[in-house]
Amino acid sequence: MVNYKEAIAKILSESIDAMSYDEILTLVEHPKNPEMGDYAFPCFKLAKAFRKAPNVIAEELVATLGTVELFSKIEAIAGFLNFTVDAEQFAKNVVEEVVKLGDAYGASNVGEGKKTIIEYSSVNIAKPFHMGHIRSTMIGESLHRIYKFLGYDTVAVNHLGDYGTQFGKLIVAYKLWGDKDVIDADPIPELLKIYVKFHQEAETNPALEDEARAWFTKLENGDAEATELWTLFKDMSLKVFNRVYGKLGVTFDSYAGESFYSDKMPAIIQELRDKKLVEKSEGAEIVNLEPYGLIPALITKKDGSSLYLTRDLAAAKYRKEHYNFDKNIYVVGSAQKLHFQQWIKIVELMGYDWYKDCIHVEFGMVALEYGALSTRKGNVAFLEDVLDKAVEKTLEIINEKNPNLENKEVVASQIGVGAVVFQELYTSRTKDYSFVLDKTLSFEGETGPYVQYTHARACSVLRKVGDSTEVTADYSVLSDEASKAVVRTLSKFGEVVLLAHKNYEPHTVARYAVELAQSFNRFYHDNPILVDDEAVKSARVALVKSVEIVLKNALYLVCLQAPEQM
Ligand code: ARG
Repeated sequence: MVNYKEAIAKILSESIDAMSYDEILTLVEHPKNPEMGDYAFPCFKLAKAFRKAPNVIAEELVATLGTVELFSKIEAIAGFLNFTVDAEQFAKNVVEEVVKLGDAYGASNVGEGKKTIIEYSSVNIAKPFHMGHIRSTMIGESLHRIYKFLGYDTVAVNHLGDYGTQFGKLIVAYKLWGDKDVIDADPIPELLKIYVKFHQEAETNPALEDEARAWFTKLENGDAEATELWTLFKDMSLKVFNRVYGKLGVTFDSYAGESFYSDKMPAIIQELRDKKLVEKSEGAEIVNLEPYGLIPALITKKDGSSLYLTRDLAAAKYRKEHYNFDKNIYVVGSAQKLHFQQWIKIVELMGYDWYKDCIHVEFGMVALEYGALSTRKGNVAFLEDVLDKAVEKTLEIINEKNPNLENKEVVASQIGVGAVVFQELYTSRTKDYSFVLDKTLSFEGETGPYVQYTHARACSVLRKVGDSTEVTADYSVLSDEASKAVVRTLSKFGEVVLLAHKNYEPHTVARYAVELAQSFNRFYHDNPILVDDEAVKSARVALVKSVEIVLKNALYLVCLQAPEQM
């Protein structure tokens, strides 16, 4: 279709010598207030070259441009050149484009040939997959989808926390108090129980700590029994985690976690020594990061065992060698900001310029309203329990509102899980937020169910229309304010996806989905669709179809399903 921003840049570049086409293109924007026009070009940067006030420049440009085909009005307002589109042409262009491209509308090839690793979720073996993990898991999965949609060659990595001294403790605890059948029936809470017991007992019996260290050393040295138990914990945990990922629609290409790098540790430690980056400190080895305003990074412990940070160094190097990434993204909470600053600085000091491509996408905390969430096991809110509760409550709502709905259970899980995910992604990632289940499940307001419901409403209209015979749509009927607002919002989807990818911010897409749903509902309220005039009906139906497509695409990118009936 006609790309309006490019069209504006093209006509302007013919009248402006002081700026290149590309510079002009990046400056074209949308006025905050749509009454001012659909696109705007700020003239402030031209003031120097033209030696004139921005508004004078804008007025002169209006005069030079005269009338231009795609636009009904070009005006100079407060230093901006404002363009109002010709509504009929614009509607035709946008709607026909959306319908033609379908699920590829909004996609692009900006990422073609660029390898991007996105690491997310990275849960810990034998530990609860709790509500706090929803952040990394869903922000990561959404970025994964957005990057793919933009043509990037993506690798989704779950950097499992499956290594470290805690596994020595777990082995000791298991050997003392573990019962395989009991654990197998409900692995995580039972493993957690014996792990907690270990810490309690160790307070009065410090010898347990030594035993635990010895078992971890055995594990590091490939001892058969230690490896067998560790594998058992890992398999049992992954069975549970994968069930949760299944419910969320989250997928990975690699589960190479911390243990995967254990045999790559000696080489990285040696490299740090060879590059004279490590110093001895009380028997341990550190990298002094004081000149960079950071606290020292611990590389090896006194007992020679390796550390979380060292494993991240080995992992980054492996990823560069194995995947040759253009970008290596880590979706990990702000609590680990220092950790990422430290090891990325060390990669730089090692002389690898790809340190610049390692990006920590951080996020704030999620607080829980405990009352609303019954948790089986003490004060940890298991993510799966929250999801199940949301689905259960949604099914109650459906039974009340629409008891004859086909496939109720499936739809309830699409809405219930979607509601929780949407609330997660609706907040800007760097902000903390409180999770409130009832608010999440509301069919009104800025929620997942609201967007899904709007999508289902569009589907219902389309079902009523059935297969209509080919009629030439009269797009001039889409010139009322409500219709124009829908068209304008539809036209922005591609820009929204690009922005979300640039800022690593899925919430940009989530907010867009709500905005589109709201503008569609206003249109739907104001304009009868199934009217007798076929040309009018056809234009409005095409708009409904476009909204249905774009809502579905947006929902997909924020990891929600789009049921056709609910
Ligand atoms: N497993 C870690 C945790 O739960 C998160 C891992 C983050 N990723 C990394 N490459 N360090 O805290």
